Amino acid sequence: MQNKDQLLDKAHEILQLNLRAGFTVPTARLYPFQWNWDSGFVSMGWGHFNVAQAIRELETLFSGQWANGMLPHILFHSETETTYFPNHPFWESYRNPGAPQKPKSSGITQPPVHGFVLERLLAQHPQNTTLETFARAIWPKILHLHRFLYTHRDPEQEGLVFIYHPWESGRDNSPLWDAALRRIHLQPGMIPEYERQDNKIADPSERPTQADYDRYVYLLELGKKHAYEGPGIAAESPFLVQDTLFNALLIRSNESLMALGKRFGFDVRELERWQAKSIGHFREKLWNSALNMFVPFDLVQQEQIALREIGGFTALYAGIPDKRQADGMHQVLQSWQQRDFLLCPSFDPDAEAFDSRRYWRGPIWPQMNWLLYQGLVRYGFQETADIVRSDFLHLVDRLGFHEYFEPQKEIAATQTQGYGGGNFSWTAAAVADLLLAKNP
Ligand code: GLC
Repeated sequence: MQNKDQLLDKAHEILQLNLRAGFTVPTARLYPFQWNWDSGFVSMGWGHFNVAQAIRELETLFSGQWANGMLPHILFHSETETTYFPNHPFWESYRNPGAPQKPKSSGITQPPVHGFVLERLLAQHPQNTTLETFARAIWPKILHLHRFLYTHRDPEQEGLVFIYHPWESGRDNSPLWDAALRRIHLQPGMIPEYERQDNKIADPSERPTQADYDRYVYLLELGKKHAYEGPGIAAESPFLVQDTLFNALLIRSNESLMALGKRFGFDVRELERWQAKSIGHFREKLWNSALNMFVPFDLVQQEQIALREIGGFTALYAGIPDKRQADGMHQVLQSWQQRDFLLCPSFDPDAEAFDSRRYWRGPIWPQMNWLLYQGLVRYGFQETADIVRSDFLHLVDRLGFHEYFEPQKEIAATQTQGYGGGNFSWTAAAVADLLLAKNP
């Protein structure tokens, strides 16, 4: 491996390269705006180089928060940038009266990482009073986001919130969503005409198929029709899923908000009520004992989506699994590792839908390895955690700061670069934190 300093210099250089006015783009060409959960990880990365920018990153992100608490998955800070689809004229965020005029945004959200990112920033800089002042100011905004999720996205009051678009899961193209998407039968005229951009910039063999893209657009149109408000969507959407990763990160962020809230003297009783319900239902409703994994629940079909996939493992980071569940998931990881896979494939390598290079259908993702690493450490699986960390750092070292990577050892060994976009911001952030965090 190159030395640690070289990797850190490169990570810092990439964050600087991707820095725009107050926010950092995920990568320059493919994703030219501010993405919600990317910015969370990126803020954590900036924390190691420039705390002021870490703060600004989150401030800029929350400048796009809607009056109802929703935090959009994309903020279109530049209204003249046209190389992305779906762009702001397509989303029509103004349909919701609480959407800010500026920045224009999408109408869906992404996994709520902000609570734990904030706690982590403070843990790295315990003496920084500017950061503490900022944390006190942003805490209520993060709480407002969580309240939006529990009120708009949890009709049965189970403490498990739903997503209604694969893009809200953060794992856009995962095979998890295939069956639900295939149940959407599109007839001519059901969606407006549109022109994709992603497959012009990235290798089409690594991108979603056209039929799937049409369904993404259909679900977007459904959100638009209901002004992106929860109840109408819950009643009509053919895609309604209680996702593992989304709920695990919400629970992990609740935990951070509670810890910080107590420290700041804020009222945390609402959070405690959500948390008790969320953890209990997650543990029971999303556990699949045959797979030894947590899996998402499809609210339309009223059944689990019984597939092994990276999101289930993130329950470890949120402290959700009991010992038996944690051991079960750990065995799954060990079996993959012992059978020539680098950790961690984003989808079950034994499943039919596994595709080691198409995005979210198999490749290794930087931010997922970061989450998995933290979870394994939390449960005392230090040896496996170290593999998750070093497999990732070695990939970046050899194949560059890419968006995602090949998980099959033999194939990865012959490659000279990773997959998807290059000079990727959350890859840089994950490298920085894994190399520098005080409790790595
Ligand atoms: C892709 C990923 C999503 C991410 C975005 C920007 O759409 O699936 O999780 O936020 O790229 O990096």
